[in-house]
Amino acid sequence: MTRALSTNTMESTSLQPASAPAGKFLSRFLIITVTICILISPGYIFFSERGGIGFIEGVTVKQLLHLIFPFFGLYAFTLVWGQIIIGTCKPLIKKIFPGIGRFHRLEGIFAFIFALIHPVLLIGSLGAVTYLKYEFVGPNKKIFVLLGVTALLLLIVTVTTALLMRLPWLQKRWKKLHYANYAVFILVFIHSWNLGTDIQGSPLQYLWMFFAVSAGLGTLYRIWRAIVKRRTAMSAQSATASEPTNSLNPPNS
Ligand code: HEM
Repeated sequence: MTRALSTNTMESTSLQPASAPAGKFLSRFLIITVTICILISPGYIFFSERGGIGFIEGVTVKQLLHLIFPFFGLYAFTLVWGQIIIGTCKPLIKKIFPGIGRFHRLEGIFAFIFALIHPVLLIGSLGAVTYLKYEFVGPNKKIFVLLGVTALLLLIVTVTTALLMRLPWLQKRWKKLHYANYAVFILVFIHSWNLGTDIQGSPLQYLWMFFAVSAGLGTLYRIWRAIVKRRTAMSAQSATASEPTNSLNPPNS
């Protein structure tokens, strides 16, 4: 009986560590598969909406730049979304991918590069003078271009301050500045939803809706985490504050 019991105990303890890595492996597999599908979608839809790569055949360089600049916008926003999801759900993701911090930094750099290439190609296709007249969109759409410009400026601030976070002046400030990425997400969402030829009327609009909903849920989770952290800190503070009073007034004094 004792032997049977001890065998059972051994079995259960040997099973526990084995099942944990299996769960982790499955979670990793699922997250990586979903991430790859999401990363492929904008490019796949962009080219399939244009019937493959034939649309760039026989065009001038300027026409080529004009035809492909939205592609970089699509990927810049997709990566910005990824940054929001990683940023808001970091403790959960860290359990599955401990090195997510490095990936987050690398993804941020790529988001920034794509976001920069997007208007640079547009300027290259139009020429700086024509670009600055903002006549490449109708008068009622200019505001949405300005939202894109604002988002790019904010992105320059958040990415450079994060990269230079070790500088003494930035050590405490970069995190606060990094919250501007939520504004970048909202601004680019409105910008692309109203200007993007690929967002209006292609399956990408559903991906964009998914981005908006998931980023919203992630933000709520982030706010909840901040509230819990603050409450825990406050109760710990009040507990330590009551300690010296007790030691000053010992019960038998
Ligand atoms: C100087 C700043 C910017 C300018 C002048 C600009 C300009 C434009 C224009 C004219 C379009 C319409 C393209 C089309 O016909 O589909 C567009 C679309 C778009 N932009 Fe920007 N943009 C800027 C910044 C950004 C930034 C910072 C992002 C992302 C981080 C971004 C993401 C997008 C996306 C996702 C689309 C939709 C593309 C499509 O539907 O294929 N833009 N932008």
